[in-house]
Formats: sequence, C-alpha cells, structure tokens
Amino acid sequence: MTLKILVTGAGGMLGQAVVARLRADGHGVRAHDRTPPPAGPADDVVVGDLRDPAGLDRLLAGVDAVVHAAAIPAPVDDDVFDNNVGSTYRVLEAAGALGVHRIVFVSSLSAVGLAWSGRGAAPLRVPVTEDHPYVGDDPYGLSKQVGELVTATVSNRFGIPAVSLRFPFIGTGERLRHHLAHVQADLAGSRGGLWSWIDTRDAVDAVVAGLTRRLHGHAVVNVAAPDTVAPVPTAELLRRYHPGTLVTEPMKDFAVPVSTRLSRELLGFVPVHAWRQP
Ligand SMILES: NC(=O)c1ccc[n+]([C@@H]2O[C@H](COP(=O)([O-])OP(=O)(O)OC[C@H]3O[C@@H](n4cnc5c(N)ncnc54)[C@H](O)[C@@H]3O)[C@@H](O)[C@H]2O)c1
Repeated sequence: MTLKILVTGAGGMLGQAVVARLRADGHGVRAHDRTPPPAGPADDVVVGDLRDPAGLDRLLAGVDAVVHAAAIPAPVDDDVFDNNVGSTYRVLEAAGALGVHRIVFVSSLSAVGLAWSGRGAAPLRVPVTEDHPYVGDDPYGLSKQVGELVTATVSNRFGIPAVSLRFPFIGTGERLRHHLAHVQADLAGSRGGLWSWIDTRDAVDAVVAGLTRRLHGHAVVNVAAPDTVAPVPTAELLRRYHPGTLVTEPMKDFAVPVSTRLSRELLGFVPVHAWRQP
C-alpha cells in the first residue's frame, strides 16, 4: 500500500535518507524543513518553522502518516528544549486533529538521560531497556523524553498507532568512520552513549518498519546495531567506565549494552549493516 507521508527535518542528515527511501518504495512524500531540503526526491517541499501554527493545516492536508525527524539533535544552544518540544507538540497535535493514521517520532537513546549528562550519569542496569528510569540532566535528552510523551498523548487522544524510535549515533560512510576514530581514541568520552550506534540505512529501515508494521497504541522502541563501536569487549568497558551498573545479562564479546528485543518483536526489525570485519 502506498501512503502520503510528511517527513519533517527532511533537509537534515536522517531526513534526507528517509525521503529518498520512501520515494524509492513508491510512497508520496511531502518534505518539510526550516532550511530548504535539496530539491529532487520529494513530491512536494514545504519550508517553515514547525513552531509556527500558521500553515500546519496545509502542511498536513492529505497526509496519511508523519515521520517527525525535525529537531536540534544535541544540547548545543538555549533553544533546544523549546524548539524540539514546541515543534513536536505543534506538528503532532495538528496531525492527530487532522486524522493521520500513523506517527513515527524520531527519538534518541539520549531520552534516558545518559548521553549528554553533565554529571556523568551511569545506567542503573544494562542492557538498557525502554523502561529504564530517566536519569537525565540535560535539555536535549529531556526534549526527547517529553517528545515521546507528546507522541503518546496524541496517540492516546486520537487513537493513532505511533512509535517513538530511540536511536543511538546514526551514521554511515565518512560520518561513521569519523565517529569510530573519535570513540576509539576516547572510550571514556563515549560512556554516556554506551558505545552504541546504528548505520543510517538500518535507521531508515527501522523508520519504514515503524510506518508499516501493525501497531496498537504508542510504544517506545530502542533501535541499535547488535555490537558497539568499541574495540574493547563490552564487559570490560562496563567494568572500567560504569562499575556501579548492574549487569542483568551476560555481555558477550562486543554486544551493545542496550536491549533491542522490542525492535525485533514489535517491529520485526533486524539491522544488517556492520562496521567490523567478520
Ligand atoms: N544524528 C544522530 O546521530 C541522531 C541520533 C539519535 C537521534 N537523532 C534524531 O534524529 C533526528 C534527525 O537528526 P539529524 O542528525 O538528521 O539532524 P539534522 O540537524 O541533520 O536535521 C534536523 C533537521 O530538523 C530541522 N529542524 C529543526 N528544528 C526545526 C523546526 N522547528 N522547524 C522546522 N525544521 C526544523 C533542521 O533544519 C534540520 O534540517 C533528530 O530528531 C535527532 O534528534 C539523531
């Protein structure tokens, strides 16, 4: 079945890849961003700030599903919480009221509160499941935590199946190579990200699964590659950098200390792209 899908953040790193894939799959795509997305792949392009309520009706007219990827993707400035939460509330609330049938909210593992913690927060237990308590102290992680609640609220109020995908670092090609070098030069510096990652092509697959799998209500779902980006076994990383964390399952070799059971069981999602040579 082909859908008409609004992709927000369509000018960004992930948004561009999502738009290209959805078009290749034969869906109709409306691409939205506040900086003009590259012309070409989308059927139509709309430029504006999602926090501006004017134009939301037109933006959502005829749309079956929304992939909400727009955000400031790090706690880089004072606007990050207002921007991310305000834009999420505006666009998803309008989407619900106008009768979309599916929402995929691009969340982040940062929603747990570890990745950008200023006090070096540690997980209470690993593998980190979707119901791990929030331990955050930064505005970006908080914006994603609240964004998930906004998504749940809209799903509950309007009866729309929705999923919030918690992604770790997303990258492929040169961006991934740069990240690998960066993490491997400073394993301690990546303790908040739990050395987790996902290839951009797999992240896009997860978005497609979120759009197309049978779902009821709203679910928060971790999405991650099965291994870490670190050259050191995970049990050793945890001993060194999160010594107080309870390890509830044996961490074999380079296993990512994030639970991905729900992404397999609920979305049927299995990542296929690896960086390690077999
Ligand atoms: N990059 C990662 O490794 C990573 C990891 C986990 C989650 N995420 C999430 O994935 C999504 C995409 O991230 P990305 O890396 O492609 O970021 P990006 O910065 O490349 O793209 C985000 C886009 O959102 C747009 N945007 C932001 N606020 C907006 C607003 N108010 N109105 C309209 N457009 C707005 C920006 O102009 C930008 O083009 C984000 O939600 C981010 O939080 C990213």
